Amino acid sequence: MRIGILTAGGDCPGLNAAIRAVVRSAFSDGVDVLGIRNGYLGLFENDVEPLTRTSISGILPRGGTILGTSRFNPAKNEQSIPRMIENCQAHQLAGLIVVGGEGSLSAARDLCRDHQMQIVGVPKTIDNDVCGTDYTFGFDTAVSIVTDAIDRLHSTAESHHRVMVVEVMGRHTGWIAAHGGIAGGADVILVPEHPFRISRVCDLLLQRKQQGRAFSIVVVAEDAHTHADEDFLTQEQGVSFYHHDRLGGIGEALAAEIERCTGIQARVTKLGYVQRGGSPTAFDRILATRFGIKAYEMVRAGEWGHMTALRGTRIVSVPLEDAVGDLKRLDEEIYRVAEVFFG
Ligand code: F6P
Repeated sequence: MRIGILTAGGDCPGLNAAIRAVVRSAFSDGVDVLGIRNGYLGLFENDVEPLTRTSISGILPRGGTILGTSRFNPAKNEQSIPRMIENCQAHQLAGLIVVGGEGSLSAARDLCRDHQMQIVGVPKTIDNDVCGTDYTFGFDTAVSIVTDAIDRLHSTAESHHRVMVVEVMGRHTGWIAAHGGIAGGADVILVPEHPFRISRVCDLLLQRKQQGRAFSIVVVAEDAHTHADEDFLTQEQGVSFYHHDRLGGIGEALAAEIERCTGIQARVTKLGYVQRGGSPTAFDRILATRFGIKAYEMVRAGEWGHMTALRGTRIVSVPLEDAVGDLKRLDEEIYRVAEVFFG
């Protein structure tokens, strides 16, 4: 028996741990694993490599993905699907494991539902925005990186009596901003789920200054928006920050507006791809490993159209249908915790 595995969408720490876990559990069962390069694109282009004990040796702590990835989406390239199916048949794959975020898992759901492909999904993303699972792997590492950056920015903010604006990723949700901001002790956290008013942000910062705390840390998620009634962005800024596949830029405009309104010097740090790079935390290594092992068990059991998920402390199987379509928005309880420390 032979199965295939691919990693699709943006990379994140823990992908190699998941690949290793799938391959190790398959090998101990006498099953071969075919690695498909660069996500769905490799399935279309028939770009594959048999995975061996040697190819997965030493990859557990490594960031990125040994298989490579791409944002090639079969849903947007319908004509590629027959070829993908043919290639699965040519390699006699009994099933396919797709390790991906919301977009790649939606594609997996469609391929199972509309084209009878045999796929098990594994959710990964630093954004933690996949429904059906409490956590995706990659998120914990990103939060650690943000926390470490905020700790470092604190000391320089304090020395210079500045406002430090830290722009973080997260796509349309505020998980990274809220968790990183709480762990780093941010004074204001701006997330897509709660449009913000610049007047309120500036009031909080001035209040801190009056209380003798002349420095502040503001964490802003890349897709955080202003309230329509207090929009300080130009039309071009609005288009360039939000209306592209690639989000980002709000931090710079926010810092400029804070400086203009409060008279306090403000600087911005955009953490960018640093949040996705490097070695996974122990939590992500373990979660990715548990997901990989569960995914293999699901393939053995023929649970097509399902994905692995963390519910509480248990790893379970959930229908892809329930996991994709909507994004998992930031938990309100987490936001309320963050809010206690504003100002
Ligand atoms: O989904 C992960 C993520 O890093 C988001 O946080 C970010 O908005 C996006 O990917 C960046 O995408 P790309 O790798 O295509 O630039």
